[in-house]
Amino acid sequence: MAHPVGQAGIGVGTWAWGNQFLWGYDPSQDPVLEATFQRAVACGLHTFDTADSYGTGRFNGRSEALLGRFAAALPAAQRDQLLVATKLAPFPWRLGRRGYDRAFAASKRRLAGRIDLVQLHWSTARYAPWQEDPLLEGLADLVQQGEVAALGVSNMGPRRLRAVHRRLAERGVPPSSLQVQLSLLAPNPVQPGGVAEVCRELGIRLIAYSPLALGLLARSMADGPLPRGPRGALFRRLAPALVELQAEMARIAASRDASLAAVALNWCRAHGALPIPGLRRPEQVEQAAAALAWNLSEEERRRLDDLALGLDVGMPANPFQSD
Ligand SMILES: NC(=O)c1ccc[n+]([C@@H]2O[C@H](COP(=O)([O-])OP(=O)(O)OC[C@H]3O[C@@H](n4cnc5c(N)ncnc54)[C@H](OP(=O)(O)O)[C@@H]3O)[C@@H](O)[C@H]2O)c1
Repeated sequence: MAHPVGQAGIGVGTWAWGNQFLWGYDPSQDPVLEATFQRAVACGLHTFDTADSYGTGRFNGRSEALLGRFAAALPAAQRDQLLVATKLAPFPWRLGRRGYDRAFAASKRRLAGRIDLVQLHWSTARYAPWQEDPLLEGLADLVQQGEVAALGVSNMGPRRLRAVHRRLAERGVPPSSLQVQLSLLAPNPVQPGGVAEVCRELGIRLIAYSPLALGLLARSMADGPLPRGPRGALFRRLAPALVELQAEMARIAASRDASLAAVALNWCRAHGALPIPGLRRPEQVEQAAAALAWNLSEEERRRLDDLALGLDVGMPANPFQSD
């Protein structure tokens, strides 16, 4: 795998702050989510990632709305330090250069007026290739109009990222970030020829989503009952193959008096990516923030790379990931 390019920070993912199907969200969790948010800010985790599709039906836009509410309650000096990133879904009815206008305005309202980075949530290149470029042009318009500081993309591979970068750079609004699934159970982006190389070459910030493999990398099988539903089924399927990897992670964690989560996050950082773990309890924030106090050695990173690449199982790829 490619060598690291310096160490990045750690952000906070908020998919679970509104999603019922996978994460079992319900509004009784809101006080703990607010405490989680406040702990993150206090620990220096200032980058928050949300999306307009995190929360659907009666919880439509819930993750953005909670984040907006929590951020608005901060003292102004702390609020100014936040970096709020949202993602707009390229739903089939969002068409043309103005196709995101209403969605962007709605997200901005829910986020109490604050969006620093707006991202195309996934690439439509594989199933509706005509849809994506006009939507990106519209996001570039928003940057040029001063509505938002930067635009990013998500779920793109090397070929598509280069094409999008070329087109938007011509307009003077190159994408500032790419968000992809990246973890020890989804290491492809940092393999030779992977999209991390393109990001380095083009100066695009690489953001690692699901860096804990939905939590599997942050727990040992002795850690009590598996989560219910599809996460539990996935953990049950993958866990038997992870014995060696988890033993090595546990060894590194013990040597640093750190958590397994911290090892998984620092592996992303060692590859130059900004991990955005999903956090929904204050103690999870503390374990993530503690990872910033140390780095993997080259030797540790290489050993983890080898173990990750030697696995014959991995996280399911996002079906909307382009090549
Ligand atoms: N662009 C995209 O298409 C896309 C796709 C997926 C995700 N994302 C973004 O990436 C973020 C992170 O990904 P993710 O939420 O899918 O998964 P993740 O970060 O891999 O896993 C999150 C889960 O790990 C568990 N966890 C966190 N810290 C832990 C700790 N210290 N010890 C034990 N368990 C811990 C928690 O589960 P419990 O709360 O159940 O304990 C948490 O909900 C999302 O929130 C979202 O913002 C983007």
